[in-house]
Amino acid sequence: MADYPMFSVIVSQIDRITPDIRRFTLTRPDGGTLPAFTGGSHIIVQMAQGEQQYSNAYSLMNDPAERHHYQIGVRLEPDSRGGSRFMHQQVKTGDSLLISAPNNMFALAEAPRHVLIAGGIGITPFIAHGYELARRGQAFDLHYSYRDEAGAPFGDLLAQPPFSSRVQEYRSARGERLDVRRLLADVDPQAHIYCCGPATLSEEVQQCAAALGIAPSRVHIEQFAIENKSGAAFTLVLARSGTTLTVAPDMTILQAIEHAKAAQVECLCREGICGTCETAILEGEADHRDQYLSEEERAAQKTLLICCSRAKGDKLILDL
Ligand code: FES
Repeated sequence: MADYPMFSVIVSQIDRITPDIRRFTLTRPDGGTLPAFTGGSHIIVQMAQGEQQYSNAYSLMNDPAERHHYQIGVRLEPDSRGGSRFMHQQVKTGDSLLISAPNNMFALAEAPRHVLIAGGIGITPFIAHGYELARRGQAFDLHYSYRDEAGAPFGDLLAQPPFSSRVQEYRSARGERLDVRRLLADVDPQAHIYCCGPATLSEEVQQCAAALGIAPSRVHIEQFAIENKSGAAFTLVLARSGTTLTVAPDMTILQAIEHAKAAQVECLCREGICGTCETAILEGEADHRDQYLSEEERAAQKTLLICCSRAKGDKLILDL
């Protein structure tokens, strides 16, 4: 199970980037250095409001060479579980937040060329990537799709080095659209391809890459919100307590356990990213929906992440 050291930071600055995107700058209370990170890293921000607790993962978007602050971009999600609304409406400059040390599941490969494909707020990890690639001396192209009629979120930053002249923008409000298949068809055979954005964009990148015979090891996808955690109902048995529950179609295993107060489970992100809810499978097979386990771990069917994954059949017995 993943272990995330948590520590407090101060919100030292909040910038309004667009009506629904804000950039938060986080520093240590004593002004000291923060744990180092690499491009593509995320932190988990834990928020509490009364009895309600939220945890969201956010990409670090500043230059990884900076050790005195972290910066995250937060989009106010219309159907937010509460985390992004909390960040937008409750958090003020000077407030203290509890965050995890950075973890990287979207790291840059060693390659001479990199093609970065961003959709909307998915631009944030690529800003840190860009600084890191410039320092490595490796070539990159950034393709950035967004809706905003007013211009690209973080456009002022992208107009400067190392991004200027490497960014191709697609403004959907004006009917501009990235032709993923065409882009990937022309990609340098040694280039690695990265995508962060809505699930539709990630799926298109994966499907086009597969159709063009691009090795999966050259395609890297980052997805913070799992779009689909629902599925058929199934029976869940918690072996340690002998409790039997039904996981309804629109419920996760974690929600079923919490609803029945059937066990105490650690869960930090609730989005299949952090690994804290990883649980051993004693019987049955998992329908994995997380972004944490490797392909080999998924195939082994020894554990699953109960915040998002489900049963393949009609019953699962877990070591809880
Ligand atoms: S709580 Fe983070 S992976 Fe499940």
